[in-house]
Amino acid sequence: MHKFPLAVIGAGVIGQTHIERILKTPEFALVGVAEPDEAARQWCAERNIPTFENHPALLEATRPQGVVIATPNATHVEVAADCMARGIAVLIEKPVADTLAAAERLIQIAQDTGVPVLVGHHRRHNPILQRARQIVADGRLGQVLSANVMANFYKPEAYFDVPWRRQAGGGPVLINLIHDIDMLVYLLGEVRAVQGSLSSAVRGFEVEDTGAALLEFASGTQAVMTVSDTTVSPWCWDFCAGEQGQYPRQNVQSHFLSGTQGSLSLPDLDLWRYPGERHWHREMVREQIRVHDTDVYVQQLRHFRAVAERRETPICSALDGWRTLQATLALLKAARTGQRQTCPAFTASRNPT
Ligand SMILES: NC(=O)c1ccc[n+]([C@@H]2O[C@H](COP(=O)([O-])OP(=O)(O)OC[C@H]3O[C@@H](n4cnc5c(N)ncnc54)[C@H](O)[C@@H]3O)[C@@H](O)[C@H]2O)c1
Repeated sequence: MHKFPLAVIGAGVIGQTHIERILKTPEFALVGVAEPDEAARQWCAERNIPTFENHPALLEATRPQGVVIATPNATHVEVAADCMARGIAVLIEKPVADTLAAAERLIQIAQDTGVPVLVGHHRRHNPILQRARQIVADGRLGQVLSANVMANFYKPEAYFDVPWRRQAGGGPVLINLIHDIDMLVYLLGEVRAVQGSLSSAVRGFEVEDTGAALLEFASGTQAVMTVSDTTVSPWCWDFCAGEQGQYPRQNVQSHFLSGTQGSLSLPDLDLWRYPGERHWHREMVREQIRVHDTDVYVQQLRHFRAVAERRETPICSALDGWRTLQATLALLKAARTGQRQTCPAFTASRNPT
């Protein structure tokens, strides 16, 4: 298989994660990195990666077939538009954009140019989540009526030395809980309304440190979610799913789905049901389903290549990214206003022309 020429724009925390995966995966060639920050460029130079101060220079010099965009949220769509104008497929980090209007612009560009877009909600590439989705789709839980999700963890004080992490939009809803919301959207379909409450009672920053959400899905599922970056707790996906080596892995569960025929916990994929008649006096049986661990970021890159080569359709399209962003922003607004927020289905008329 020939090496697929990839470039990376933005070599910060997640950009370096992508770069490390690209370098160790033989089917990719890293042709260059665009990064304005000198220290980050130096990090690349130490790995013999050609670097450029901006993405137009990178694209002109290296002509990649695919680009990973790992820049701050507000720049995602502008940078993507420049790549797509050159016919280059893009893997855009989550959230797809900082506003729904920007995400809608991206959807329009994708439609107009036909250039493939993949949004980096990397958990969709986890075999655990894919198996869970299959279990739901096969009807093994019956109608899924409730979901319970915990995203509770502790971020050290030094994390907040960076000013934007103390300001609105820089908190655990848009940075962390958005991944859990995307998981539910992937498993259960579109969100139709959101209620929520946020607090910053402990850290006292402008941004929330804790929140709770109630999501109503078009399917009828009701989901209850909590998030906190200020609790000492093992109950979050990053700690128990084993996706990221920097977090010691905990043998606990963080996501629970309950349906009319059975229930499923994640990440262990234990499926609970009655072997015969459904009755609360009967013994339930527990089926333990196991899948192999995988590097979700490598899986995502392999899928991105297939999307760029038009062999696969994106597991998370620009529209999928829009749906998850809409629900996440609705939660922030619901908490701000105290009002339940509806989440209308996407229509082309929403598109800016
Ligand atoms: N999927 C995940 O697991 C995950 C994890 C962390 C962050 N993210 C997302 O990735 C994006 C980046 O987050 P981060 O934590 O790596 O941030 P970061 O601040 O560590 O890195 C961003 C980098 O982009 C560079 N940059 C800024 N503007 C640029 C431009 N126009 N061209 C090229 N480079 C530019 C900055 O100098 C910086 O080095 C965000 O959208 C974030 O939400 C995703």
